[in-house]
Amino acid sequence: MPGESGRRTRHDAGASRETDAHGHSPRRAEPPFTDSIFLGELTLKYKTLTQYLVEQQREHKAVSAEVRLLIETVSRACKAISHAVSKGALGGVLGSLGTENVQGEVQKKLDVLSNEILLEANEWGGNLAAMASEEMQTIHRIPNHYPKGQNLLLFDPLDGSSNIDVNVSIGTIFSVLQAPAEAAGREIAEEDFLQPGTRQVAAGYAIYGPQTMLVLTVGAGVMGFTLDREMGSWLLTHENIRLPEQTAEFAINMSNMRHWEAPVRRYIDECLQGETGPLGKNYNMRWIASMVADVHRILTRGGIFMYPRDARASGRKGKLRLMYEANPMSFLVEQAGGRAIDGTGRILDIQPDALHQRVGVILGSREEVERLQRYHQEA
Ligand code: AHG
Ligand code: MN
Ligand code: MN
Repeated sequence: MPGESGRRTRHDAGASRETDAHGHSPRRAEPPFTDSIFLGELTLKYKTLTQYLVEQQREHKAVSAEVRLLIETVSRACKAISHAVSKGALGGVLGSLGTENVQGEVQKKLDVLSNEILLEANEWGGNLAAMASEEMQTIHRIPNHYPKGQNLLLFDPLDGSSNIDVNVSIGTIFSVLQAPAEAAGREIAEEDFLQPGTRQVAAGYAIYGPQTMLVLTVGAGVMGFTLDREMGSWLLTHENIRLPEQTAEFAINMSNMRHWEAPVRRYIDECLQGETGPLGKNYNMRWIASMVADVHRILTRGGIFMYPRDARASGRKGKLRLMYEANPMSFLVEQAGGRAIDGTGRILDIQPDALHQRVGVILGSREEVERLQRYHQEA
């Protein structure tokens, strides 16, 4: 019996293996069903990233042709990174390089490789004016022999570096801005990137976990695409992701507790008191130490993620980077109905003063983030 869709399914294939009255297998009128045909059906069942983006461009005007092509190129680079990640030791991609990035962090081989993949994939497309990366000292202008576009691309090529060698989920985070009008006709400068997160026209991440997924916003909600490895397609499996408003799960690196500011201490202390405390419920805790993976969990089932400012010399401004981590993740979280603050204020409103600026990050389910914001205001 054909599948409901009218197309034949894997289940139908069994019928052609039945024997006739003489105990012989009948000649098959059609070729046998193979995995690729089955996967082809999957591809038809789900919308592809390309289809989603074309619709956003044509019907909803949520994305320009340039940004659409740019997102497609970034997503192609993420496929290549996903492939390298999945090779692990066999691909010789684990371990450190022995170099440091501009922020004094030891670079892993995959930090540098992912950065190269993103640069190379995006240089020639004609949709960009320049790129900036957590792994590069300053901006990367599009070389003169390629056509240039109006967009600026920023990325954390490999997020969760400490998890690379231990086979835990890692990812790539990206953000798209437009070159300011006053930059027309001159060379793009670092200052042109210093725009608040509210000006992002798209943002997203790829997560390299048990499945590789791309989670994207072009300002019209948050969509999750799963990579169908055999077909090489991103398929829309998580439409219009919404973040639950309430939660009983927090994510923070507890080893920094002694350095925290009073409002964060107060909140975590209340969480730990459970149902007999002022919050009246028992909280669960998770800390993956890859922002991508922690945020992905929160977008999936709710929760609150914190990498707050703290009293250490290195932590006074926070650990995470505004332009490559906090802004794109805040855009996604807000688009899914959540909130993202640095303590007292909204992250997306911050006017950056440096490319590699750090910031305190508290994001996730609306009610919990607003509670923490109140605690900061009251302090
Ligand atoms: P990156 O690997 O890009 O440097 O980012 C790591 C970040 C972030 O992904 C994560 O939330 C945090 O660092 C983990 O920090 P701790 O090791 O201090 O927990
Ligand atoms: Mn990171
Ligand atoms: Mn990184």
